[in-house]
Amino acid sequence: MKNTIQPTLKERVMRDDDFIVSKTDLKGRITYANEIFIEFSGYSQYELLNTQHNIIRHPDMPRAVFHLLWKTLESGREFNGYVKNMSKDGSFYWVFANVTPSYDENKAVIGYYSVRRKPSAQAVSVVDPIYKEMLAAEKKAGAKNAIDVATQLLLDKLQGVDYEQFALSI
Ligand SMILES: Cc1cc2nc3c(=O)[nH]c(=O)nc-3n(C[C@H](O)[C@H](O)[C@H](O)COP(=O)(O)O)c2cc1C
Repeated sequence: MKNTIQPTLKERVMRDDDFIVSKTDLKGRITYANEIFIEFSGYSQYELLNTQHNIIRHPDMPRAVFHLLWKTLESGREFNGYVKNMSKDGSFYWVFANVTPSYDENKAVIGYYSVRRKPSAQAVSVVDPIYKEMLAAEKKAGAKNAIDVATQLLLDKLQGVDYEQFALSI
């Protein structure tokens, strides 16, 4: 269904005190969504639950960013970064996301948890052109090399600063 949505230029902007919260299982299927998530995504709770989190994936997002997100989580660390999401009506909204693994009492990972805040306009103005360049590089490289090429481009842009440090500094 999500592939049939036409992205539009309409932006939804988070309010200063908004938190968009979701939880997923180990495979990235949504197990919890708060009211603000429902509001911004435009989907009902029923549509969101048990659905892959990529239901709100925006086609402008480089694959390499999600690769980094999953690699970070799988190594047991938290991910902090900027994501452009797409609502059910095709509009978009930028978030600053913190994503963490959730553990059971035996310290086994049982799922993931994400809280998003409103990103500063300044941060979005820095990240947006970088993501655009990454996306263009991915398209040029083709599916097989897309992630490697865009990851390298990001590394070059950040000149030795890791993405999380960069994300928290802008
Ligand atoms: C807790 C959690 C939250 C996530 N939040 C988002 C999100 O807000 N937007 C998004 O596009 N992907 C999010 N993802 C990543 C998706 O699972 C998925 O990897 C991404 O949308 C790329 O889709 P694809 O893997 O089908 O290319 C999240 C993953 C986890 C584990």
